[in-house]
Amino acid sequence: MKAFLPLSLLLAAWPTLAQDIGALTAETRKAVLPVVPKVVSAMQEAVAEKGVAGAIPVCKEQAPALIKAKRQETGWDIRRVSLKTRNAERGTPDLWEARQLAEFNIRAANGEKPDTLEKSEIVSLDGKPVFRYMKALPVGDVCLQCHGPAEGLDAGLKAKLTESYPHDQATGYGKGQIRGALTVKRPL
Ligand code: HEC
Repeated sequence: MKAFLPLSLLLAAWPTLAQDIGALTAETRKAVLPVVPKVVSAMQEAVAEKGVAGAIPVCKEQAPALIKAKRQETGWDIRRVSLKTRNAERGTPDLWEARQLAEFNIRAANGEKPDTLEKSEIVSLDGKPVFRYMKALPVGDVCLQCHGPAEGLDAGLKAKLTESYPHDQATGYGKGQIRGALTVKRPL
C-alpha cells in the first residue's frame, strides 16, 4: 500500500491532471464570455446617448463593474489586459498574459480571425495548479472612437483622456486589431 502513497499525494495536489482541459475551457467560456457583448453594447449605447467624451465612464467604471460582478459570481480572477494600456494600474498583463497577447498578434497576422483567438492552459502558480484562459478583444467600430488614431479623435475626448490618463498608450488602433484580452485565472 505504501508504494502507492506518492501517487495518491500527487493526485491530491494536482486533481485536474485527470480533468479535461476542454471541459474547463467550455465551462469558463460559458460563465465568462457573456460579459463581452454586454460591455460592447453598453459602450455603443453610451456613445450614442452621451457622445464619446461622455461615454468615458462606461469604459472606466461600467466595464470594470460588469467584470467585477462576474468575479463575484464565479469566484475567479477576471480582468482586462493589454500590451498598450490606457490604465496601466488595472490593465498591465503578467508574463503569461503578455506572451499570449503577443501570440494572438502573430496568429492574427497569420490569418486567424481576431474574434476567435483564445488560449487555455493549466499552469503552476506558487506550486499550485491554476487554469488560465484568455480571449482576445478585437477593435470594432465603436472602439475606434476612443482607441483609434490620435489625430482622428474627438477634441473633447482627447482633453479628457489627457487629463485622466497622462500615460495613455491605447490609441492608434485599426479595426480588427487586438486591443487586449479578457483573462481568467481559476485555482483548481
Ligand atoms: C468612450 C470611450 C471608449 C470606447 C468607445 C472604448 N473604450 Fe476601451 N477604454 C476607454 C477608457 C477610458 C479605458 C480605461 C479604463 C480604466 O480606467 O480602467 C479603456 C480601457 C480599455 C481596456 C483595458 C486595458 C487598458 O488599456 O487599460 C480594454 C481591453 C479596452 N478598453 C477595450 C475596448 C474595446 C474592445 C472597445 C470596443 C468594444 C473599447 N475599449 C471602446 C475608453 C473607451
